[in-house]
Amino acid sequence: MKIIRFILIVVLTGYLLFSISNLLGINDENAPIAVQPRASKDYIKVSSILQNKCVDCHSPGMTRMPIYSELPIAKRLMDNDIRQGSERFTLGPKIYSGEEAFTPLMLARLEHVISNNKMPPAKYLAMHWNGSLSADEKQTILTWIANERSQHPWSNESAENYKGEAIQPLPLSVELNPKKVALGNQLFHDTLLSGDNTLSCASCHALNKGGTDQAQVSIGIRDQQGPINSPTVYNAMYNLAQFWDGRAKDLQAQAAGPVANPIEMGADWDKVITKLNQVSDYTSAFSKLYPEQGLTQTTVTDAIAVFEESLITPNSRFDQYLRGNETALNHDEKAGYVLFKNNCTSCHFGPALGGLSYEKMGVKEDYFAMRGGDLTEVDNGRFNVTKNETDRHAFKVPVLRNVELTYPYFHDGAVNELSEAVRIMGVTQLGKRFSEDDIHKMVSFLKTLTGNYNGISLFILKQ
Ligand code: HEC
Ligand code: HEC
Ligand code: HEC
Repeated sequence: MKIIRFILIVVLTGYLLFSISNLLGINDENAPIAVQPRASKDYIKVSSILQNKCVDCHSPGMTRMPIYSELPIAKRLMDNDIRQGSERFTLGPKIYSGEEAFTPLMLARLEHVISNNKMPPAKYLAMHWNGSLSADEKQTILTWIANERSQHPWSNESAENYKGEAIQPLPLSVELNPKKVALGNQLFHDTLLSGDNTLSCASCHALNKGGTDQAQVSIGIRDQQGPINSPTVYNAMYNLAQFWDGRAKDLQAQAAGPVANPIEMGADWDKVITKLNQVSDYTSAFSKLYPEQGLTQTTVTDAIAVFEESLITPNSRFDQYLRGNETALNHDEKAGYVLFKNNCTSCHFGPALGGLSYEKMGVKEDYFAMRGGDLTEVDNGRFNVTKNETDRHAFKVPVLRNVELTYPYFHDGAVNELSEAVRIMGVTQLGKRFSEDDIHKMVSFLKTLTGNYNGISLFILKQ
């Protein structure tokens, strides 16, 4: 106990001395970095706020050294803050100067901490009384975030007053070579891609089942049970990488995987190419569309990837709302959207409401202890790719478009009900226990995300 009290005193005195030194302007050697002329006028203010109130923990190497920082225990605590803080949100000199733009992910995280009063952390403010953000400063940052978003092409189709939102409507169409799309469509549905001609990509990613198989885990060739839930192929082009752990860098690299996976399609690419070469439709299509290469693994996976890029599901009721139709959502759905924005968009943002970052499953509470059962290899998530301990149990945030149809939920498919998935997210990701009413509203909102494929509602496609 004595030791703990001693540490507390050292740290608190440190913060106190640091605050005084700040008030007295002792840290002059770290004069703010000037903002480049081409950055917006508002950014001058934002940059100055960040340089004054966030630099200590979010800019490794730029921290204004507090007097106590050389004391071993305090130094360790401070180093921890800097490591954890900058892992999630790094502000380098080029960000402060406006030379480098904030990514949509940085904007989403910044908005979340500002609107929830999470930063600077309470323990820092306890002694660093001039460190908190004033209402004016918060507003300046939030207005700037909305303005940044409105410049992004994702917001092109949003109504004027919704251009600053964390979520944007899906485009009504994308420009692709229609012949490649048609060829990819045929391949996607062709069982010749599997070892015993029983499975196609569509077996596990049915376009009339929200782009999934609606099973807890996928069943592969010869009825083998896979280890993980099949994610949707709709809007997968918005993912920063493919698979729950992001091990494939893009759709083309991804498409090579399942064919050769012994418990998925269980085939051999050479044999698949031989089989496809016996189909004259294919040989003629490939020689027209890929005259130089012809029919190869590379061109087959390219055609499939082009087809997958066409799998967008625009014009959901929520998108109609973002485009300016205020009556597209009812009262509960709008209330659900407000709750969602306040709680969920630091991870589920962008046109597909996810797919743009890796996040730990269980930020606040241990999901796996709650779930029970043994931990499996796939539960490690992104760790399996990077071997970084901080990536253990981190997953690519799933997209939430058409989420009403993509049950069961989570990488392990452990949850059948959308309301249960939302409840668990509150507990594991936010440390919050939402009321039944709030959950109901968020679920109502999530159900407005069901869109159209080729002009037909996915919901009708289902029947
Ligand atoms: C005393 C150190 C400290 C200061 C000062 C500080 N932060 Fe942080 N920040 C952290 C730590 C530690 C984390 C990671 C753990 C967490 O999220 O609480 C973090 C996380 C964040 C995140 C990521 C949140 C997420 O989604 O995980 C953002 C954004 C952020 N801080 C913004 C700011 C801003 C803006 C300021 C200035 C107004 C600021 N921080 C000041 C320590 C600090
Ligand atoms: C036996 C079932 C099965 C078959 C057949 C199958 N998949 Fe998958 N697919 C899955 C599973 C399960 C995952 C998740 C695996 C993981 O993340 O480790 C997945 C992941 C994906 C993803 C990544 C989506 C995301 O959000 O990360 C895409 C894209 C995809 N599959 C496309 C295809 C294509 C194209 C084919 C045919 C060449 C195919 N799949 C065949 C089950 C299957
Ligand atoms: C800190 C990041 C984070 C926050 C905040 C967050 N989520 Fe998630 N969400 C995730 C991750 C990561 C997964 C995948 C977890 C897994 O599969 O194990 C996920 C999965 C989901 C799923 C299941 C999707 C599927 O296809 O399996 C739903 C639904 C969902 N989140 C809704 C929400 C809602 C609603 C909120 C706000 C109340 C929220 N999330 C807040 C990161 C987050």
